[in-house]
Amino acid sequence: MQEIDQLLLHNRAWAAEQLAEDPQVFVRHVDGQQPVFLWIGCSDSRVAPDQFTQAQPGGLFVHRNIANLVQHDDANLMAVLDFAVGTLGIDRLVVCGHYGCGGIKAALAGPPPGPVGAWLAHARDVYDAHADEIDALPDEEARTNRLVECNVRDQLVHLAQTPTVRAAMAAGRDVRLHGWVYDLRDGLIKPVMEIDRDTPLDAVPAPERVLV
Ligand code: CO
Repeated sequence: MQEIDQLLLHNRAWAAEQLAEDPQVFVRHVDGQQPVFLWIGCSDSRVAPDQFTQAQPGGLFVHRNIANLVQHDDANLMAVLDFAVGTLGIDRLVVCGHYGCGGIKAALAGPPPGPVGAWLAHARDVYDAHADEIDALPDEEARTNRLVECNVRDQLVHLAQTPTVRAAMAAGRDVRLHGWVYDLRDGLIKPVMEIDRDTPLDAVPAPERVLV
């Protein structure tokens, strides 16, 4: 059997299981969605947020890109954010990176030519901002994993600075931004930073004081 056929076969089995557990499950899905969380994560195939948080369909509104970057000129993410916060009313926003991230490794080594490299230039900016601390680490794994943490921190600040998030906070909503790192080695999430409406962004401390 071809791998693509396996996907379809597994899909039929999944749908049947869902119905067996809860005959109304798809009726509710048709009614609409009320997710509690916006998830911004890496595209990496090993980092599957619905599975490792055991979120059900309807629980996470998801945007993924290589190295979980938050760029204000990314029309895709800005539309996702505007819809999530403005229309769906989501107040809990997560940026989740992961140790061993290939995108972060590439950014550290020097972004490759082509579209991937152009995208990773944003991650390279994070390295440039924290180069002294990262270069002082003894090996590539340690440098990569520290840049993963610094990247989550900087992307969370970018997220907090978007007009969408600022407007929601200014309107008095209890918007909370959570920076997390998922560990491929044990399947666990490590929280590394949190921003709420009382966090003065211009006073966000240096990563070595913020990060766990
Ligand atoms: Co990654």
